[in-house]
Amino acid sequence: MQVIKYMFQPHGDERGQLISLEEFNDIPFRIKRVYFMYDTLEGVVRGHHAHKSLEQILVCIHGSCKIRLDNGTESKVIPLEKPYEGLYVPNSMWREMFDFSPDAVLLVFASEIYDEKDYIRDYDEFKRYIESENKHESI
Ligand code: TYD
Repeated sequence: MQVIKYMFQPHGDERGQLISLEEFNDIPFRIKRVYFMYDTLEGVVRGHHAHKSLEQILVCIHGSCKIRLDNGTESKVIPLEKPYEGLYVPNSMWREMFDFSPDAVLLVFASEIYDEKDYIRDYDEFKRYIESENKHESI
């Protein structure tokens, strides 16, 4: 399973760091939505869903957290600990976010506006969706 982690270019100088992210340039899609999670309580696991078409880039801009990605056959845990790291989450990928430090701020760039119809919130349904997608691809 291929995991794409972007290393953004900080524009550092004696004053500190600055990171700029542009759509189609640093972020590989048109950014239609940005949201962020903070004050996440200890032990909380968020996510537990996949998207049919949404693409995202996750950046833990403060603190740290872990992301589990699962493509239906393989699963990987990716730590996000630096504000210059961006994890690409493609469509058809189950994700869980956990191990949030108390100061964690997880910023998400999304390719679409919020649409509940794009969510798959049941893991068994996700597995069936992946299988039907694979069948279509092999035809
Ligand atoms: P939820 O999907 O449960 O978040 P997570 O995937 O991190 O567990 O979303 C929490 C609430 O926020 C839910 O009521 C839907 C709402 N929400 C929006 O209104 N817009 C958004 O862009 C997102 C991501 C969530």
